[in-house]
Amino acid sequence: MRPLRCLICGETYIGRETPDRCPFCGVAGRFVAEAAEYVDYEGMEMCDSSKDFVRQAMKIEASNVAFYQCAAGCAGNEVVRAVFKRIAKHEAEHLELLAEHLGVEEPEIEPEECSDDDAANMQQSHDREDRAVKLYMRFASEAPEPRLKEVFSAIAGIEQEHYKIFNTFG
Ligand SMILES: [Fe+2]
Ligand SMILES: [Fe+2]
Repeated sequence: MRPLRCLICGETYIGRETPDRCPFCGVAGRFVAEAAEYVDYEGMEMCDSSKDFVRQAMKIEASNVAFYQCAAGCAGNEVVRAVFKRIAKHEAEHLELLAEHLGVEEPEIEPEECSDDDAANMQQSHDREDRAVKLYMRFASEAPEPRLKEVFSAIAGIEQEHYKIFNTFG
């Protein structure tokens, strides 16, 4: 067993093997490294346009957390519930890491409505992830700070996986 750490969300992991994805924020396993490699970017310097990107991303993540929590609560079976439950946690982790980078408190999650029909929730999830992927890829290319490029492209990668999961189970 060895201590590992996600270089994107900062969560720690103790295990024999490197997981194929961060169990907390879901980014690719290449970002899960020896704990000593971790660098803390809390409250990092960033330009005003990057602050605005991070704030926009936080709004998306907070809204997605609320929606996926609702969809998990209304799920018609345990498979669908498992998908929504884990994805809600990934998004909550994204919200937390973005707030940390910006050096602000995490916002309260305002409840959002969802359907009592799984297929409708899957469809909406699909659209939410599609929007997040496109936006985060743009932020990754436009943010001048190398760390924000890394964060936005890592998160875009896992949102793309979410999108595929909704294709499979939707
Ligand atoms: Fe992570
Ligand atoms: Fe996310």
